[in-house]
Amino acid sequence: MSYKVKDIGLAPRGELLIEWARDHMPVLALIRSRFELEKPLAGVKLGACLHATKETAVLVRTLEAGGAEVALCGSNPLSTHDDVVAALAATGTKVYAWREQTTEEYYWCVNKVIDHGPTITMDDGADLVSTLHSKRTEKLNLVKAGSEETTTGVIRLRAMHRDGALKYPIVAVNDTPTKRMFDNRYGTGQSTIDGILRASSVMLAGKVFVVVGYGWCARGVATRARGMGSHVIVTEVDPMKALEAVMDGFQVMPLMEAAKVGDIFVTVTGDTKVIDEQHIRVMKDGAMLANSGHFNVEINIPALEKLSKGKRRMRPDLDEYQMKNGRKLYLLAEGRLVNLAAAEGHPSEVMDMSFADQALVAEWIQKNKDLKTGVYDVPRDIDEMVSRIKLQSMGVMIDKLTDEQRKYLMSWSQGTV
Ligand code: ADE
Repeated sequence: MSYKVKDIGLAPRGELLIEWARDHMPVLALIRSRFELEKPLAGVKLGACLHATKETAVLVRTLEAGGAEVALCGSNPLSTHDDVVAALAATGTKVYAWREQTTEEYYWCVNKVIDHGPTITMDDGADLVSTLHSKRTEKLNLVKAGSEETTTGVIRLRAMHRDGALKYPIVAVNDTPTKRMFDNRYGTGQSTIDGILRASSVMLAGKVFVVVGYGWCARGVATRARGMGSHVIVTEVDPMKALEAVMDGFQVMPLMEAAKVGDIFVTVTGDTKVIDEQHIRVMKDGAMLANSGHFNVEINIPALEKLSKGKRRMRPDLDEYQMKNGRKLYLLAEGRLVNLAAAEGHPSEVMDMSFADQALVAEWIQKNKDLKTGVYDVPRDIDEMVSRIKLQSMGVMIDKLTDEQRKYLMSWSQGTV
């Protein structure tokens, strides 16, 4: 069988969700129309390891419209939408994904995508690339190049390149302005709040909301939490980011201090054990812990387990831990990315831009014969095109430079007048 999903009978419901997303993704719609005519991805075998959501389904169908044969697996054991992948499977996509996978099942799906023999990889977190490079090296020479969707993945791939381990070129879609400044900031900002609310339904106004980290994603979370009326504390290790948080009007302090006063904690760092045993020990009764970074290592869950004497699932995506000293702490979505596990990930409108970047990068890879191994930036004209089309789709007009202004910007001779 060319798919494995939880229940193929969910396809009609998934199809409606995909239609809903598609109608909110105008940039991808335009690319899809062109791809249908030009078939720039004819002959491409595309292996994708992405969060299997309705937005991803729209991307998959855009790549297929361009002539690619796509195989898809999820990029997190808890983020797959079973109805959406059923719809993809029912219309012929090779898809291997279901929600609530064991680690073994997760990698079984990654390996099915590798069996497809991808010539281009599209990864979110670099599990596909790292599996190819460590356990499936017999398929490596088929791959021309790949792209990476998320900060954590780009960090891993740059480390692979530094160690001389990376064997093919990767385009860092995450780092490009039309991705990072919009998806990471506004997307993560909104979807993280959405995940926390769906998992807990607590009031955010008046709560002490601790955001651990102040990268692009964390800035979005801190800003949106403030917008909901929370008193937001930011913790950081990078002095420049901390300074920026201070000047953005947030209270900044060490996590050890914030741990004593926070009601809600969200990790958004990409690092490991940022909320550690010593922080958990001093948290208030009733504190909630969530993670919005890619992997479930940011909160030290084994330490939480060790300090507790029991746990109960109170609601979907919310576990109560009864601590040995009598307090109760709550962990959302098992410490996996709360925005995708407890909600639907970023809204379609912002994934429109990220996935337009992905589709155009796949086309760029296919057209470029001589890419060398390394980590590449997205070409600037792709960014300009995506932002222009997005503005047009929103009905927003902008100004143009006059010839005189263009010349002025290019010259150095005119100073004080
Ligand atoms: N990453 C964050 N939000 C997403 C979404 N809606 N679909 C796919 N990947 C995502």
